[in-house]
Amino acid sequence: MGNQQRSIVITGGAGFIGSHVVRLFVNKYPQYNIINLDKLTYAGNLENLKDIENQPNYTFVKADICDYETILDILRQHNVDGIIHLAAESHVDRSIRDPFTFARTNVMGTLSLLQAAKTYWESRPEGYEGKLFYHISTDEVYGALTFDGSLFTEQTKYQPHSPYSASKASSDHFVRAFHDTFGMPTIVTNCSNNYGPYQFPEKLIPLFINNIRHRRPLPVYGKGENVRDWLYVVDHARAIDLIFHKGRVAETYNIGGHNEWKNIDIVKLLIKTVDRLLGNPEGYSDCLISYVADRKGHDLRYAIDPTKLSRELGWKPSLQFEEGIEKTVKWYLDNQEWMDRVTSGEYEKYYEAFYANR
Ligand code: NAD
Ligand code: TYD
Repeated sequence: MGNQQRSIVITGGAGFIGSHVVRLFVNKYPQYNIINLDKLTYAGNLENLKDIENQPNYTFVKADICDYETILDILRQHNVDGIIHLAAESHVDRSIRDPFTFARTNVMGTLSLLQAAKTYWESRPEGYEGKLFYHISTDEVYGALTFDGSLFTEQTKYQPHSPYSASKASSDHFVRAFHDTFGMPTIVTNCSNNYGPYQFPEKLIPLFINNIRHRRPLPVYGKGENVRDWLYVVDHARAIDLIFHKGRVAETYNIGGHNEWKNIDIVKLLIKTVDRLLGNPEGYSDCLISYVADRKGHDLRYAIDPTKLSRELGWKPSLQFEEGIEKTVKWYLDNQEWMDRVTSGEYEKYYEAFYANR
């Protein structure tokens, strides 16, 4: 594993999870050619990859996955044999306001990427041999659990509720259809909520860390009783690496770390950690908690059963949640400039600035 040369497109590599996957692959596999293909929407930030942007095995290409002809050119130009597909619209609240963008990118974008891969790989003398289309999905496609202790397995029926999860479910079906119809080697993984450095501050954890620091209200939806299953983003990237190299084609793997938390308990843990690290007295920021109207269709509970992944491939998460949250809070407090540039929009100028200087 890992000694041969490969040319791998990682879509959405300028986003939160994608940037960790790109970093891991660029550093771990100097013999691979890693192409980060990203449209740079509001969620794409090349500053996330400053530390590896000059590595000889890394290339950034600004492109939209919906643009079939451009994608086909990129696959041909770089002789791509592997695709790790993370590009997506990813925020549930935005999907409630603007579902069309989610259908366009997550459904039509994934289909255009699949069709481009099919056209290119079928044109090669070796066909699909040595190729892999690895699609990164979410546990949200399985719908919502109650508080009965049950878990999402790979056999759980798809029952998406939000426009985001409906669009991801549809993209998963297209990926499996390309395997079943054309014989394309595909893998799908469904992961639980990620947290860690470089997450766009519209999501719960970075938004609340930043708000606590600036003494702004913390908008807890409903009663704060919804449960999410949290995984440190680097552990997700490690799982993706393992599955890309050792996963069985046509399979689905659920990724999660048996780490369920009620939102309100996370909010209290964040307050405690930020206050301690900033030297504030205990309880100083409790008054910021502000219960607001619930999210429409808010899924009650997500929880992953990762048994298949640990049994078949020996994966397990490396960090306990309290340790991961400590690292994450420290990272956001130490990288206030990153946060300021994201919240002010300055980060969107980085692409032109970086590429103008090449
Ligand atoms: P993100 O929103 O931080 O990043 C998405 C990236 O995709 C951005 O860089 C954006 O510029 C790019 N992108 C969006 N539309 C594009 C298009 N049309 N063409 C090319 N690039 C485009 O998302 P994330 O949180 O890093 O999630 C990455 C993937 O992992 C998504 O597919 C998401 O569904 C999945 N996922 C996320 C989580 C989570 O907790 N964040 C959990 C499980 C699965
Ligand atoms: P989020 O980070 O948006 O991830 P997802 O919706 O994909 O699980 O939200 C995590 C949980 O936190 C979810 O139950 C909604 C809740 N939440 C709030 O209570 N307030 C907020 O401002 C946000 C962004 C989320």
